[in-house]
Amino acid sequence: MTNLVTLLVPIVLIVLFAWLARRAWKSRHAVVKWVGVVLTGIVTLMLTAFTLVAVIGLTKFNAQQSNPVADVQVTSSADQIARGEKLAYVCANCHSTTGNPPLDGSANNMAGPFGTLYPPNLTPAGSIKDWSDGEIIRAIREGVDDTGRALIVMPSDKFHGLSDADVQDIVAYLRSQPAVSHDLPDTNLNLFGDFALGAGFLATNQQPPIAQPVSAPPIGTPEYGKYLVDFSNCQTCHGQDFAGGTNNFVVKGPNLTAIVPGWSESDFVKTIRTGVDPTGHQLITAMPWKQFSAAYTDAELGDMYQYLHGLKPIQK
Ligand code: HEC
Ligand code: HEC
Repeated sequence: MTNLVTLLVPIVLIVLFAWLARRAWKSRHAVVKWVGVVLTGIVTLMLTAFTLVAVIGLTKFNAQQSNPVADVQVTSSADQIARGEKLAYVCANCHSTTGNPPLDGSANNMAGPFGTLYPPNLTPAGSIKDWSDGEIIRAIREGVDDTGRALIVMPSDKFHGLSDADVQDIVAYLRSQPAVSHDLPDTNLNLFGDFALGAGFLATNQQPPIAQPVSAPPIGTPEYGKYLVDFSNCQTCHGQDFAGGTNNFVVKGPNLTAIVPGWSESDFVKTIRTGVDPTGHQLITAMPWKQFSAAYTDAELGDMYQYLHGLKPIQK
């Protein structure tokens, strides 16, 4: 509701500047008249455009999504929990204070000056303890929370293709974590945040409902490698075509289509395991090699290599 009240601020300013423009128009001094009209006119138009975009963002924030919640009960065998914990390293980049599981929530406000947006505490001490398994699965793969609000920044576009088995293993792991108390403020946007959401600087990644069973491609194939690469968000930093990062909101990774084809599979696996590439270069930790090393077996990294190695080299 604070948002609705703060919206009054630019509206009052618009009225004020429109009134000043009218005053200037009526002035008898030509200089005062034209300089006044142009300046107040520009400010009025900018404030109006800003307010309209902020209203679009506010509407987006409050929109109710109709994605249905699946009626599933996740069983949790020791194997499922172990597999879920490995996959959770990919979530730990955002959802953990240490960068490793347990997913106790982040101390990093991803909305910066735009409001509060902390990747929440996903241990049983956080709010998902009251969510059904189906609601958690919907949040991961479709980007909608228990109240029907589209999640911001949470990369469900990358998780939309997760198989039923993998997403259930993640839920099994989330439920099995120690309850780490780490209270974080609720997600909220200020007026500039509403503007950022309306203008697309902040994004919801809400996805279409998943109604059919989803399975992963066969293990041991480049398609399975692609499945893991997509899940790992490699494209966020290395570019949609892997030819180098273009996203100004994250660190830019190099062109993988020009690098990986020159490496052997063991070069690739060793680079992810040790953080040192075949030329002896030590990778900066902004490249989450430690998390990927913890998440994947040699065979899985091998499948990822097969996929990346097969990409057409793109020179930029
Ligand atoms: C790029 C950072 C990022 C990554 C990676 C990420 N998340 Fe999130 N996640 C967020 C943010 C930010 C929110 C809060 C969004 C909001 O409130 O609008 C969120 C919200 C959630 C929620 C809703 C929780 C609540 O209490 O509202 C769940 C569940 C969730 N994430 C699960 C996961 C899982 C599981 C993974 C890994 C498979 C993951 N996330 C990976 C950033 C991330
Ligand atoms: C958060 C951003 C980010 C993500 C996500 C990310 N990378 Fe990177 N990556 C980087 C950066 C930055 C570098 C350059 C590091 C350096 O040179 O020190 C890098 C370097 C690399 C290198 C080494 C290149 C070289 O010449 O040494 C490889 C290989 C690589 N990334 C593969 C991947 C794969 C595969 C994924 C997904 C599983 C991935 N990256 C996800 C940011 C990222």
